[in-house]
Amino acid sequence: MKGLIFNQFEKFVNEKFESDYFEKILIDCKFNPADPFVGPGTYPFASLVKMLEFVVNDRSVELDDVLRDFGQHIFPKLYEVSRSFEVEFTDCKSFLHSVEEIIHVEVKKLYEGSELPKFLFKENCGGDLTITYISEKGLCSFMEGLLQASFKHFSQEVEISQIKCTSKGDENCQFLLKTK
Ligand code: HEM
Repeated sequence: MKGLIFNQFEKFVNEKFESDYFEKILIDCKFNPADPFVGPGTYPFASLVKMLEFVVNDRSVELDDVLRDFGQHIFPKLYEVSRSFEVEFTDCKSFLHSVEEIIHVEVKKLYEGSELPKFLFKENCGGDLTITYISEKGLCSFMEGLLQASFKHFSQEVEISQIKCTSKGDENCQFLLKTK
């Protein structure tokens, strides 16, 4: 996983919990604080999982809630990165299509070693949208936070419900988006 994500996780936990919480996490998880995660670097996904598990136990919070909040928190940074790709979109749905078709493709080219999820879109009659999230990382709650932040960014009201999850034995995770 790219250092960019770890750097944003540092900002997120320091804001959400306390200003030097990330340093405490590094020490308790036995990472060397003198050898920080750097933006262009690539680090094991397991290192992020270890830190998330620490936060969940240390603060008695739910993993899904932390991931959802982290998804919301990271959105402005990812959106800023995506502006350099000069992608055109008119609303949130077209933006989400461009994340799959252009933005994540460009990210993969530019950020060596990045591992991106795949999205499948299905437009239902009545304007509802089903998005299938395909990834081995199981970050569907992070995805949900990103979806919530995306619609908020476009000032579009939507009801997001997760209708399938690999944690419940489904093949993939799936979201139903009902526009209000
Ligand atoms: C705004 C523009 C976006 C950019 C520039 C961007 C970029 C990235 C980057 C750099 C990663 C980390 C890859 C790695 O470390 O290996 C990532 C991961 C991810 N992105 Fe995006 N992203 C964007 C928008 C979105 C949106 C809107 C969603 C969902 C609606 C999304 C869903 C995800 C998920 C779930 C992951 C975690 C990897 C996985 O589950 O396999 N991204 N993205």
